[in-house]
Amino acid sequence: MITKNIVITGSIAYDYLMSFPGRFREMLLADQLQNVSLSFLVDTLKRQRGGTAPNIAYTLALLGGHPKVMATAGQDFADYRAWLEQFGVDTSAIIEIEGDYTASFFVNTDLEQNQIASFYTGAMAHAAQLTFAQYAADANLAIISPNDPGAMNAYATECKRAGIPYIYDPSQQTIRLSGEELRAGLDGCALLTVNEYEYSLIKERTGLNEADILQKVVGLLVTKGSKGAWLLVDGVEYDIPIVPPHEIVEPTGVGDAFRAALMRGMQLGLPWDVCGRMGAVAATYVLEQLGTQNHYFTPTEFVARYREHFDDNGALDALL
Ligand SMILES: Nc1ncnc2c1ncn2[C@@H]1O[C@H](COP(=O)(O)OP(=O)(O)OP(=O)(O)O)[C@@H](O)[C@H]1O
Ligand SMILES: [Mg+2]
Repeated sequence: MITKNIVITGSIAYDYLMSFPGRFREMLLADQLQNVSLSFLVDTLKRQRGGTAPNIAYTLALLGGHPKVMATAGQDFADYRAWLEQFGVDTSAIIEIEGDYTASFFVNTDLEQNQIASFYTGAMAHAAQLTFAQYAADANLAIISPNDPGAMNAYATECKRAGIPYIYDPSQQTIRLSGEELRAGLDGCALLTVNEYEYSLIKERTGLNEADILQKVVGLLVTKGSKGAWLLVDGVEYDIPIVPPHEIVEPTGVGDAFRAALMRGMQLGLPWDVCGRMGAVAATYVLEQLGTQNHYFTPTEFVARYREHFDDNGALDALL
């Protein structure tokens, strides 16, 4: 199979991270909860680029994969677009919704690590309007990552109908999808990607057991945090060890980076054990940074780090 054109669907978001130099519990008066009107003077505000689609696209681009992102963003997207294009992401199928903002996650953290957060869906609510037929008809491999639930369902249906192999990656949205939606999404996918918790949730929601699931998918990836990952494709199992991080700064985004590097391996037609281990290397780079797109490596550095831990029998020369 020639997998030239990878299309990534998923959320696009900004994360606004604030820190409050006090304690929320001292501001919430138990006898005044019917009358809450609070303002927290915060010390720091950081805006981070996030969303599953650009997270995956960023790592894929670092590895030379030239992915296309198909998603909706808001009128505040211009600098984010420029950032992605600078790394070689094709943003022509990122559609800006006039008069609305990019999905935004606002979180305020106090001195005790308590958090008060709000998520605004914004432009993401329009994602179901986009179709592969209109924006990505030449896709050879797609990923359906967390997004507006209606969009995730529509993309799975369209990929099946158009014969586009797709990775079904419900991740954080697993909790929002019904058993029926999850069952339809995973049925016929090229690869179902989940962490251990999401895997249990899917089994519970759909009523399917492992054997049932394996009959409906070509491949299954279950990531297990610091215990590595388990990949099963066409009936063959691969245990994917972790790559020890130099330091753990913050884990958000490890799953996205894992999927990105795995897809780059698939795009190059590399053996499955190598694809999985590429995922583990990429995840570790993310673990060592704050944020989901603040890691950086050249393909040469990536291959060198891979070879410190694993033998690829020269397969990764394809990346250089
Ligand atoms: N502590 C760790 N040390 C080394 N590698 C790790 C560690 N935690 C995670 N990883 C790598 O990242 C992969 C994905 O991790 P995990 O199963 O936690 O994903 P996740 O729960 O989907 O994460 P997220 O959704 O926050 O990105 C693991 O299979 C492993 O390769
Ligand atoms: Mg995840």
